[in-house]
Amino acid sequence: MMPSKPVHIAQMSDLHIKPPGLLAYGRVDTASALERCVASLNEFNPRPDLVVISGDLADTPTVEEYQHLKRLLVRLELPFVAVPGNHDSRELMRAAFPQGAYAVASGALNQRVEIGGLDLVLLDSSVAGQPYGDLEAPTLQWLETILASAPDRPALLFLHHPPFKTGIWHMDRQNLLNAEELAPIVRRHPRVQLIAAGHVHRATLTTFGGVAATICPAVNHAVDLDLQQLRAPSFKLEPPAFHLHSWFPGEGFGSVVTHQVPVGGFDGPHPFFGPDGKLL
Ligand SMILES: [Fe+2]
Repeated sequence: MMPSKPVHIAQMSDLHIKPPGLLAYGRVDTASALERCVASLNEFNPRPDLVVISGDLADTPTVEEYQHLKRLLVRLELPFVAVPGNHDSRELMRAAFPQGAYAVASGALNQRVEIGGLDLVLLDSSVAGQPYGDLEAPTLQWLETILASAPDRPALLFLHHPPFKTGIWHMDRQNLLNAEELAPIVRRHPRVQLIAAGHVHRATLTTFGGVAATICPAVNHAVDLDLQQLRAPSFKLEPPAFHLHSWFPGEGFGSVVTHQVPVGGFDGPHPFFGPDGKLL
């Protein structure tokens, strides 16, 4: 019997936390950017059931950066889980967040999280010392096993590196290099309802293996939307946002919709209708 309660998963991405007082690329105050996103998440109503951080939690990475990150995340009033990105270290991240339900005791930080009627599968696509992503053979085998273990439950996959091209040349050469090994697994398991990535610091939407696939914008700077190799790799301080993946139970695997929520305070909400029921 399918549980009847919706599940709301917030995703924030690419935090790039430096040691206190240091700016990313000499310009971006990533700690303040995270504080603003945490405030927006805390205020959001309905309260998300879980926050998934889709990689690049630290920047260099160092122990000091993870300690700074942990101090910043103390303010987050919601439970969270995380996958590593190319700016992370598996070992330092595991040490910083030892409470994670990691599938193996060392190496890849893969996790499966059951939340109401929904399964989240968090895949570690990081490769030590490299900007690109790769899913190791044991990770792919684990994913296949996990997906086969509960074929009737809808599942969302989270990983840092998008398994598709965005058209941004310098990002596309550092995406998930073995995406062709992930696609057949996704196709074999119709319970996969969404593939949610980070890494590119921009919102994108496409399909992969026949499934909706998104990139969540960063909480800080955006990668310049350069689709013609016009400029050297660059960033812009565009409005930051988080994603809210809302799952609603229903026929089959139910339905998932992704909302993009800008970070910050905005005028409103204002009612459309007056007390007489007429449009204002
Ligand atoms: Fe990244």
